[in-house]
Amino acid sequence: MQTGEPLPEKPWGGRFSEATDQEVLAYTESISFDQTLWRQDIRGSGAHAKMLVKVGVLTEEEGNAILQGLSEIAGEFERGSFPVRIDLEDIHMNIERRLFEKIGTPAHKLHTARSRNDQVALDLRLYVVDETAALSVLIRNLIEVVLSKAEETVDLLMPGYTHLQPAQPITGGYYYLCHAERLLRDLDRMQEVGRRAGISPLGSGALAGTTFPIDRTYVADLLGLSGITGNGLDAVSDRDFAADFLHALSLLMVHLSQWAEEWILWSTVEFSVLEIPDRYMTGSSMMPQKKNPDILELTRGRAGRVLGDYVSLMTLLKGLPGGYNRDLQEDKEQLFDGVSIGKRAVSMMTSLCGGARLKGEKLRSRLSSGGLLATDMAEDLVRMGVPFREAHAIVGRIVAYSDSLGLSLSEIPDEELARFYDGFPKEYAKCLTPEMAVSRRNHPGGPARERVLERIGAIRSFLAGMK
Ligand code: ARG
Repeated sequence: MQTGEPLPEKPWGGRFSEATDQEVLAYTESISFDQTLWRQDIRGSGAHAKMLVKVGVLTEEEGNAILQGLSEIAGEFERGSFPVRIDLEDIHMNIERRLFEKIGTPAHKLHTARSRNDQVALDLRLYVVDETAALSVLIRNLIEVVLSKAEETVDLLMPGYTHLQPAQPITGGYYYLCHAERLLRDLDRMQEVGRRAGISPLGSGALAGTTFPIDRTYVADLLGLSGITGNGLDAVSDRDFAADFLHALSLLMVHLSQWAEEWILWSTVEFSVLEIPDRYMTGSSMMPQKKNPDILELTRGRAGRVLGDYVSLMTLLKGLPGGYNRDLQEDKEQLFDGVSIGKRAVSMMTSLCGGARLKGEKLRSRLSSGGLLATDMAEDLVRMGVPFREAHAIVGRIVAYSDSLGLSLSEIPDEELARFYDGFPKEYAKCLTPEMAVSRRNHPGGPARERVLERIGAIRSFLAGMK
């Protein structure tokens, strides 16, 4: 049965007496950015339509017509030929209208038992599930490259720093593993974010559900989601999962930024311990001699942007009363920005890490100065029976003395050493080598060759076991 009245231009136009002001249209639209969600919107609508058929709200034919129309629309998006209409506000109304143009009346039944409030919440959750999965793959590739670098440099000796001052000898393998561990936590966080986002809010309606006998779990199953949300009023306004994602992205970018900062420094003429191939460097328009690490600087800079995205979303959420508020439309752009930056940064660092090379000779030459073996000497004194605090003080005096002569600790003659402590064995100083310093730190998490190789193996088998 038909009412005879023509349908309003806008799905919500029935109770309005005049058309929306043009300036208002431009001010309120989101289609210019929420088109990003077209895949998720179509997938969600398809599942909703199948459910409506299952519970008898739509006929089989109506359901099939909807699915057919949605798949044609997906094709239009793929080809870039979807006719976007700004007057239809957002991705949801754009797709629904297009569906009507293709299949007629059944399109007008698709929104039964659904609101844009639960629809957009679903779309965004699906987006987070999809993009955390994509990021996990990228991070995993990066970890694999870092691990092969670690393996390559397991015997490359270098100074480890604290406060940017030379501290103790480590190896390239141990150094690279440090980045692998951080990234492994980032990977774990991405997967956890995807897991938390992966439940269906559909059925929440505008806020208070629907009078139709819907099957929410069926929709969730069709979408490959692990469950359904527990309260409609919460589900339409919950964006915790988006904040989780931006937090995980911010931390990932902070890690990449720390790495970038380190390598910017290491590739300077002053440090000169890292070689970055020309294809990953950029030049200056004025100074012909310049080779600059711009990709690293952009990664460091963009980490600030993603952190800003995160703060912006949290600030948006903090003042919202219960239920859907249009402020929530502003949750998308920063999320999309963070995701796009994160993905590009991880894949760029993967290429760069594969191409960059630690300069073994240079690093080795930095090991003789700075008393890097002082801790080893102090621990040897402890083994000779000296309490650690006293050993620390004795070695401190020896370091000051060797510094004043421009000698390294291993070059101090026995007679001189004896002036500070008379129990050193013969030729003690000569045995103090960075190789030994590394190899005797042979406990889980330590820099000894076996331990580094063991950890590389453990991370590799963890990655292999991941789905
Ligand atoms: N474009 C809107 C958003 O992104 C969709 C939900 C609109 N809901 C509403 N009650 N106006 O949040």
